[in-house]
Amino acid sequence: MGFALGSKAIARGYRLAAYDTIGSTSSEAMERGRAGDAGRLWVVATEQTAGHGRRGRPWQTPGGNLAASLLLSLPKGSAQAATLGFAAGLAVTEAISVGCEDSLRLKWPNDVLIDGAKVAGILLEAVTLATGRSIVVIGIGVNVRHAPEGVPYPATSLAACGSHATPGSLFEALSDSWVEQEVLWDHGRGFSAIRDRWLGSAAGLGAPIAVKMGESVFRGTFETIDSDGRLVVRSGDGSATTISAGEVHFGAAGTAAL
Ligand code: BTN
Repeated sequence: MGFALGSKAIARGYRLAAYDTIGSTSSEAMERGRAGDAGRLWVVATEQTAGHGRRGRPWQTPGGNLAASLLLSLPKGSAQAATLGFAAGLAVTEAISVGCEDSLRLKWPNDVLIDGAKVAGILLEAVTLATGRSIVVIGIGVNVRHAPEGVPYPATSLAACGSHATPGSLFEALSDSWVEQEVLWDHGRGFSAIRDRWLGSAAGLGAPIAVKMGESVFRGTFETIDSDGRLVVRSGDGSATTISAGEVHFGAAGTAAL
């Protein structure tokens, strides 16, 4: 199996539940959270048989890739939990950067790209318990060795960009890079610093984008993300529109794919 937490993660009290194969690390983390786990628990596997992604899409994790889900338990009234995905995106880019750093970009809201192709996806799931506490599961899938086939977007793997990372080495680095981002995030109070970093690695900033929301498509220029992490798109008439959820496609290729 070969999974271990990094030294910073251990020092900060994180715990690990590691599997060779599991249905879904996020489902397992959510189940443990509902059963009363106190959080700061990573559930990891190198193969999932029922991984899920955003919009109810399946997420393929054949053996040799990394599926990692972090269970957090947030106090009643926690704001800004939705911005955790941006902190996670930064942690992933830092962990996978060795050898591929020049071509790494973050795509709103939570994808990690290498040369424009998706190498990692992040899914945030949250529930509020009867106690008022929120359970948040940050599910992270990284194509370490294999890129998925038959998906509706360009995909790649770390191996394809020359990285020798293994699921174990990558997870150890990720558990530590997460600690740095979590400290910066500071229960959402530090989101503006996270936002600045995220924008520094954002794909398509200042360029034409199309955002698919259900059946409708909104087109404009990707201007920024706001203080809540929402996408800000400038239209041809000069007006700005703020978008909370949608699927971003870049430039002419994105337009053709819609
Ligand atoms: C996306 O659609 O881009 C998000 C994909 C998230 C996949 C990860 S793999 C680990 C965790 N377990 C799951 O079932 N999903 C997430």
